[in-house]
Amino acid sequence: MEVVEKIMEKSPYKHVNRKFVEKLAGLIKSDIEEEKVKLVRAKLRKISTSALSMKFYKKFKTLEFSKEVLDMHRSTRERADIYSWLISKIEKSGKIIDLGCGFNLLAFYYNEFLPAEYKGYDIDEAVIQFVNRFAHEKKLNAEVESRDVSEIEFEQSDVYLCLKIFDALEDVEKNVAKTILGKISKKTKLIIASFSNISLSGRGQLRERTWFEKMLQELGLKFTKESQGNEIFYFIES
Ligand SMILES: C[S@@+](CC[C@H](N)C(=O)[O-])C[C@H]1O[C@@H](n2cnc3c(N)ncnc32)[C@H](O)[C@@H]1O
Repeated sequence: MEVVEKIMEKSPYKHVNRKFVEKLAGLIKSDIEEEKVKLVRAKLRKISTSALSMKFYKKFKTLEFSKEVLDMHRSTRERADIYSWLISKIEKSGKIIDLGCGFNLLAFYYNEFLPAEYKGYDIDEAVIQFVNRFAHEKKLNAEVESRDVSEIEFEQSDVYLCLKIFDALEDVEKNVAKTILGKISKKTKLIIASFSNISLSGRGQLRERTWFEKMLQELGLKFTKESQGNEIFYFIES
C-alpha cells in the first residue's frame, strides 16, 4: 500500500485534503515507512485535526446544528467570550475571506452576525462538509472549500481573516506567511491575523510576535494589535 493510503487509512487523517497529505509525505523524510506514517500523522494533528474531538469526526455528517457545537472546536471554544468584540471589528465589511476557517462561520451565526458574503478555506474536509451543510441549511451566502491556502489564487475581498493559521503554515513551509500576506495585502484593505498566546514552554509568545511584526515591517504594512482572551490580534491595513 502506498504511504499516503496508509496515512489516510483511519480517522481523523482520512478527512484531510489528499493533496495536502501528499505534500506533507513528500516533505517529511524517512527511510522507514512506518516512521513516516507516524511523523505525517503527528504533523497533521499538530496543524489541523487536534482542534476537534474524535466524536466530531464520527458524527459530523449527521450532527445537528446548535450553539453547543462551537464547544467542539478548540479555537471557537477558547474564543467564545470575544466573538462579539471581533464581530464589531468586521461586521460593516462586505465580503469576508477566511483562511483556515474552522468553525468561524457557525460562531458568527450564533453570535448574530450574518456576513454579506463569506468564503472559507480549510484542509479538513470533515470541517468543510459540516460548514457547507450548515451554510446550506441556514441559507447563508457562504461557501467553504477544501484547499491548501498556500496554493490558492487570492480574490478581492473587503476583509481577510487569518486567525491562528500562520503557525500551522510556517510549520510546513518557512516564509509562506510572508508570501501570503504580500499577495492578500494587494486584494484587501483589512487583514485580521491572530496568534494564540498560550505556549507550552511559556517562551513562544514573544518570539512569535517579533517574527511576525518584523515581517509586516519588511512588507511595508502598518498594523495595530490588541490582546483579547488567550489571543493576540493584528489589524493590518493596506
Ligand atoms: C488553529 S485552527 C484555527 C481555526 C480558525 N481559523 C479559528 O481561529 O477558529 C487552524 C486551522 O487551519 C487549518 N489549516 C492548517 N493548515 C492549512 C492550510 N495549509 N490550508 C488551509 N487550512 C489549513 C486547520 O485544518 C485548522 O482548521
